[in-house]
Amino acid sequence: MTRELRSDQWYAGVDRNAYIHRAWMRRGLPADAFSGRPHLAIANTASDLTPCNSHLDEVAGAVRDGVHQAGGIALDLPVMSIGETQVRPTAMLWRNLAAMAAEEMLRANPVDGVVLLGGCDKTIPALLMAAASVDLPAVVVPGGPMLTGTFRGRPLGCGTDVWRLSEEVRAGTLSSAEFTASESAMIRSRGHCNTMGTASTMALVAEALGMVVPGLAGTPAPDSRLLAEANRSGRLAVDLVALDRRPSTLLTRASFHNAIVALAAVGGSTNAVVHLLAIAGRVGVELTLDDFDRIGSDVPLLVDLQPAGRFLMEDLHRAGGLLAVLREVSDLLDPTALTVTGPPLVDLVAEAPRWDPEVVRDRSAPLRPSAGIAVLRGNLAPDGAIIKPAAASPELLRHRGPAVVFESVEDLRARIDDPDLEVDADSVLVLRGCGPRGYPGMPEVANMPLPRKLLERGVRDMVRICDGRMSGTAYGTVVLHVAPEAAAGGPLSLVRTGDPVVLDLPRRELRLDVPAEELRRRQPPPATTDAYARPTRGWERLYVDHVQQADRGADLDFLTGSSGSTVHRESH
Ligand code: FES
Ligand code: MG
Repeated sequence: MTRELRSDQWYAGVDRNAYIHRAWMRRGLPADAFSGRPHLAIANTASDLTPCNSHLDEVAGAVRDGVHQAGGIALDLPVMSIGETQVRPTAMLWRNLAAMAAEEMLRANPVDGVVLLGGCDKTIPALLMAAASVDLPAVVVPGGPMLTGTFRGRPLGCGTDVWRLSEEVRAGTLSSAEFTASESAMIRSRGHCNTMGTASTMALVAEALGMVVPGLAGTPAPDSRLLAEANRSGRLAVDLVALDRRPSTLLTRASFHNAIVALAAVGGSTNAVVHLLAIAGRVGVELTLDDFDRIGSDVPLLVDLQPAGRFLMEDLHRAGGLLAVLREVSDLLDPTALTVTGPPLVDLVAEAPRWDPEVVRDRSAPLRPSAGIAVLRGNLAPDGAIIKPAAASPELLRHRGPAVVFESVEDLRARIDDPDLEVDADSVLVLRGCGPRGYPGMPEVANMPLPRKLLERGVRDMVRICDGRMSGTAYGTVVLHVAPEAAAGGPLSLVRTGDPVVLDLPRRELRLDVPAEELRRRQPPPATTDAYARPTRGWERLYVDHVQQADRGADLDFLTGSSGSTVHRESH
């Protein structure tokens, strides 16, 4: 390598500190490891407690081989892992901590670049935020989705079918024994959720951003091609260091534009909105909530995957993957956005084959003519709220109904099935206290369960409004990410049961039909703050004191931007 390496700042020379840095690393490394060979960290989120990522050690082995084959030195860097299904109170509370920890360890250590191994929902966003802020050459290897599991001969979609089957139990159309019997069939193999949930979405979006070897995202976790591509990514990482190709050269306004087009065309998770806003914040790209509506809302939904459609990730891979999808909408892509392999993304989609037009639709026969995320505003959400029309019931997208207000998730659980709850199919369920600060961490609870008595009458969807998030595997007419949240004094805190609420998608409006004077009289909001988080120490305290609202990606205020990779002082 002709360029001076960052790691040389540790290893080059004959002084005492260089001696210390080298000597402790000489455990099997060859003598020439410290003279001109790039050192690549493999930032690995493998953990038994993140079951979707538990296979990543094997993937790391393939990356390691690739790095060595290209002349680099591969170094394992275990980083904080977050298991979506396991951690409490919500995985989202830990995304920023994982991003901060990974960023700091990349900067603190003698590495020249990094291969990022993620999978489960928050892991790829956290790694991308870290890589963006430290701005060392980086490539993402998504761990890949599970194979399709079946139950009684029918495919089961991770997450989506849990929501569906559990509602069937509450409606009395499925026995609890049958429900439990399906449990062992849901997770057929290693890998992350196989629906178009957040993990699948973020892997595809990372590829659309240019941060993944094109064609790799969505390769199922057990597929041998994943290891081959991981090997290739390891080799590529060595080249990235030589070329000094950094995230800041790839993560441009143009690549976020392409990510939003991809998000819409695949019918991706609403969670991608907060993650993309946070990643953009790290590289100084001025991305706003309205960009998602402006760029994405007229993009056709082309991928027939659960929760919006029928198939699962294995089918998308078989059908040609993201490149096949983007080929159909290549005229909507920004041609200037580059990929980690060099060429612009548009060049790589031009020849992409599409093998199954049932799974990846033709542009002329979309699943829905317009997908994407719609941004709502009004006196209930001055800083915006979002809805995914493709996952909603069309007849509810213009709706006026009386609010039924819940102060917290606990309040909701305690009362939702109460036979005396005054609620009908026209009611609008309002849940507050679930924003970044209030919960804390903005949990995936916005897709509230419907009242049992309405389920029994055959009601399957209602308008729901919340300052929290919704699982990417969920569906329904759910207004999410209301900003500012109730715990930050947003007008959501002023709603009372019985107030008329208006949702008007064509006008992009979310309104409380209560006179302004009456709303002023309700200030300050009633003392419902018992339900809101009041942490006194630790990460939760830091988080609640510094977290920004959903329209800013729910990143901590002091983590936006980049510090680069320079460390000014020696350790001894
Ligand atoms: Fe890990 Fe769904 S729980 S991806
Ligand atoms: Mg999730």
